[in-house]
Amino acid sequence: MRKKVVAGNWKCNTTLQEGVDLAKAVNNVVNEKGADDVVVVLGTPFTHITKAIENVDTKRIGVSAQNCAAEAKGAFTGEVSAAMIKSTGAEYVILGHSERREYYGETSETLNKKLALSLENGLTPIYCCGEPLEIREAGNQKEYVIKQLKETIFNLSADEFGKIIVAYEPIWAIGTGKTATTEQAQEMHKDIRDSIADQFGEEVANNTSILYGGSCNPKNANELFANPDVDGGLIGGASLKADDFIQIINAY
Ligand code: 13P
Repeated sequence: MRKKVVAGNWKCNTTLQEGVDLAKAVNNVVNEKGADDVVVVLGTPFTHITKAIENVDTKRIGVSAQNCAAEAKGAFTGEVSAAMIKSTGAEYVILGHSERREYYGETSETLNKKLALSLENGLTPIYCCGEPLEIREAGNQKEYVIKQLKETIFNLSADEFGKIIVAYEPIWAIGTGKTATTEQAQEMHKDIRDSIADQFGEEVANNTSILYGGSCNPKNANELFANPDVDGGLIGGASLKADDFIQIINAY
């Protein structure tokens, strides 16, 4: 049975102290309420990972990096490897976010290296896909997203694929306040699940958590998460406010 996941992506936000306060605030409520049916993940900046782990109950809350190096180690100034991330106690790594694809030239080729290194090091990749506005307006979103999957995560073995989480994030809905309608989200999530079934079989498809990302907030989370193929959310802006993030966790 696939898991329900609510993951925050803090992006390049919060000082260390602000991040610790945010992690503590989320931890307090998650501990009080239990929230045992939902996997809660905090996607913090690299600099905050260790402190975030120290300040949450890691049985209830996982911590994620937002990227990793495409190389295992060596002379790559400024890079942070999957092994380094794993050594902090982090369990997850967000890969292929549209901001990394767009601003840092992340390609399917680099992503394949990052996916392999993350899996080798026992991290769970949260793999992001999603189409830009012009593709959605032309009605080609399904082809676009499936191509992203074919170039990357569909190259994994079924066993490896079984370890990843997929996040569908329509680029036109990220940080814009514009959310996919519940029908648009369900349609694409179903298309993604069907293509996983074609590639790896029904069982793998049914066990894959597919998260929605893009202006998900306390007001729309309930409706979005009620879709049969939406298994939670990857939350940007609303994950920076403890109250909002908690309300989204409680949407389940
Ligand atoms: P927003 O929730 O701010 O739209 O960001 C979504 C996102 O990019 C999560 O990875």
